[in-house]
Amino acid sequence: MPTTTHVVTGATGFLAAALVLELAATTDAEILCLVRPGRTRPEHRLHQALTEAATAFDHPPPLLQTALRHARPIPADLTVDGCGTDPVRLRRAGRLEFWHSAALLAHGDPYRRRIFATNTAGTRRLLELARRADADVFNHISTAYVAGRATGLVPETPVHEPSPRNHYEASKIAAERAVLRADAFPTRILRPSVVIGHSRTHACPIHYTGAYGIQQRIAAHARLRAHGPSRRLGPIRLRAAENVPFNLVPVDHVVRQAVEISLRGPAHGVFHLTNPNPPTAGAMLRTMFGELRLPEPQLTTEPTDLSAADRRLDDLLAFYTPYLLTHPHFDRTRTDAVLTAPHQAAFPMETAVLHAFFGHHARHLDHCYEALLQS
Ligand SMILES: NC(=O)c1ccc[n+]([C@@H]2O[C@H](COP(=O)([O-])OP(=O)(O)OC[C@H]3O[C@@H](n4cnc5c(N)ncnc54)[C@H](OP(=O)(O)O)[C@@H]3O)[C@@H](O)[C@H]2O)c1
Repeated sequence: MPTTTHVVTGATGFLAAALVLELAATTDAEILCLVRPGRTRPEHRLHQALTEAATAFDHPPPLLQTALRHARPIPADLTVDGCGTDPVRLRRAGRLEFWHSAALLAHGDPYRRRIFATNTAGTRRLLELARRADADVFNHISTAYVAGRATGLVPETPVHEPSPRNHYEASKIAAERAVLRADAFPTRILRPSVVIGHSRTHACPIHYTGAYGIQQRIAAHARLRAHGPSRRLGPIRLRAAENVPFNLVPVDHVVRQAVEISLRGPAHGVFHLTNPNPPTAGAMLRTMFGELRLPEPQLTTEPTDLSAADRRLDDLLAFYTPYLLTHPHFDRTRTDAVLTAPHQAAFPMETAVLHAFFGHHARHLDHCYEALLQS
């Protein structure tokens, strides 16, 4: 078997930092990390991201040292012609396997142009760079929510009838299409659901995104409400359907399955890296409120049930609310067929587990708030 070199984008971010650590734990391969030049040098940014992730996941120091030895930063920017990198710097004697995780996880109209420039045009540029570097396989980290408005069973197949709910989903659907059109190498589409911290430590390195954004907005709204004229209005009411599944999946489950698919699975097709046992939106929201020391929320699916104060939170949650109301069920037949122990993909989220994740985040928010007050 020829040696493999991995090329990873987004390694200064949450998911791909975990991916680099997983690749370092399971292979001896060199890992070329395409890092966007920032205020500090790419070497420094990559070192910092991997160290933060290894600390949050409580990995033993030798694993971090291995990752730092195997990972090599190469400056690159998805929004620049040719990604600003010479493909010759990536060519190696053995196999070259790409992992495209970099993206802009922003929402709202002001970000529209940047979202498409990074997620869609950026993916096209990276595919071209991979072709010029003679890549052997291209793994694209997408999202299970390319399903958009679909409900019921969502198959592990390309999106046939796009129904995106926001610019982010639309940009990721278009990126998948570009990947599926590539014919210079086989491509895999890996679709995580909503990624949260590590299954054992519950910590989340780099920054808290996804579901944590909901808890951040509830916390901000509750602080303002506690000091304003609506403080006597009673429990907060928000739009969500009590029993729809909210598919949270721990980051270590996502990267472990991704690497196993790369080592053992077919080199093409769509794979859902989701949780077969997701919690309900109701259970998740009650836990978030409990960890913020707020009274239980009242859930409604009717916008007309909201008070003027509740509507302010509804505005803050505009991006997230569709995910609290729709009921997709992500099929995992192809993914489970590859994994040696598919039952281990299940991560039941009982109340205590949800409290561990969102309690961790609530303490982080308290810490940020205290720091802000003291600054
Ligand atoms: N987090 C989730 O819940 C979730 C769920 C499903 C799917 N996903 C997918 O998983 C992937 C990783 O998400 P994440 O949570 O790790 O996001 P993240 O923490 O925000 O990381 C994004 C990464 O992309 C890089 N990046 C952004 N713009 C770039 C550009 N123009 N050129 C080069 N690199 C650029 C960032 O680099 P800088 O450090 O320079 O900003 C960072 O390393 C994304 O494709 C996302 O769509 C995430």
